[in-house]
Amino acid sequence: MTTDTYKTIHVAASGSYDIIIGDGALACLGERLHALVGNCRLALLTDSNIDALHGAAMMKELTAAGYDVCKYVIPAGEESKSAENMLAFLDFMARNRLTRSDALVAFGGGVVGDLGGLSASLYLRGISYIQVPTTLLAAVDSSVGGKTAIDIPAGKNLVGAFYQPRLVCCDTRLMDTLSSDIYRDGCAEVIKYGVILDAALYDKLHTLPFDRIDVVARCVEIKRDVVQEDEFDNGKRGLLNFGHTFGHAIEKLSNFEVSHGSAVAKGMVIAAKMAPLFGLADVEKPLTALLEQYGFDLGCPYSAEQMFDVILSDKKRRGGNLTLVLPRAIGNCDLITVPVDEVLVKLKQVI
Ligand code: GLY
Repeated sequence: MTTDTYKTIHVAASGSYDIIIGDGALACLGERLHALVGNCRLALLTDSNIDALHGAAMMKELTAAGYDVCKYVIPAGEESKSAENMLAFLDFMARNRLTRSDALVAFGGGVVGDLGGLSASLYLRGISYIQVPTTLLAAVDSSVGGKTAIDIPAGKNLVGAFYQPRLVCCDTRLMDTLSSDIYRDGCAEVIKYGVILDAALYDKLHTLPFDRIDVVARCVEIKRDVVQEDEFDNGKRGLLNFGHTFGHAIEKLSNFEVSHGSAVAKGMVIAAKMAPLFGLADVEKPLTALLEQYGFDLGCPYSAEQMFDVILSDKKRRGGNLTLVLPRAIGNCDLITVPVDEVLVKLKQVI
């Protein structure tokens, strides 16, 4: 298979790169790696679930392309996105004598992609990395745009860097092995894109199952356009956080028992309830109906005070202000900057 078989979306940011999307796209990874990083050594980062399911196929693809690969497997789950794991992985690369001309392949969901990207940005002050997302969520969000991170005890994603990959290779067939819960997680992010910037996509999502390749490609195009306009998150990129300020708080309060997508779904509903309090549109009913169609439980088990306490350490806070993403209509959201104390007042009205 050549690259032409798949959809290709090009990102022109501080680093420019292709995102290849399609069933079976893994088959062109070796060829693309040769064109990008040549005959180097590769560190392959993955997690225990992906390794069991797809590790052998990935190793076959890379070794058939002539690569010498050293593989590092972290336990599956958000707890793995830690400083300890990152340091151990950096040490692993150093012990394997990877050099600046070598490259890292992050093969997994958001945890692997975020930890892999940050490790790539730090190792020897920066080596090339390639994202191979395996979940819908990673395909439409975390693998694109160069946001890399680990979690620290004070909060999720509080340590990170903007560091663009050299390539994203999204083999949509890998999603066939996702559990329905993990697939649904990604659907929350897909619905987010519809609410923030694309009413036509939002409408399309009412017919299930949706065309996976088309929908992933459309979400990636939307994210590409936003990242090209505001790579370093000083404005429009904030729109991608719709539902996330409240969602991250729920994830943290639940000790990550509530998954990212489920938390974002709850967070989007809280944001939708808040919008009319700022004189904006009320899209709560249609949004709730669509999220329920996907099977999301939308209740928030935490009080306004508990949520606010976590929101105070949100990385999106700037001084005494927090920027909220609130809908004007489906397909059109606004960034509203408010004093943090007002967030507590409004939370008390909607939770
Ligand atoms: N996940 C939000 C962003 O990449 O900006």
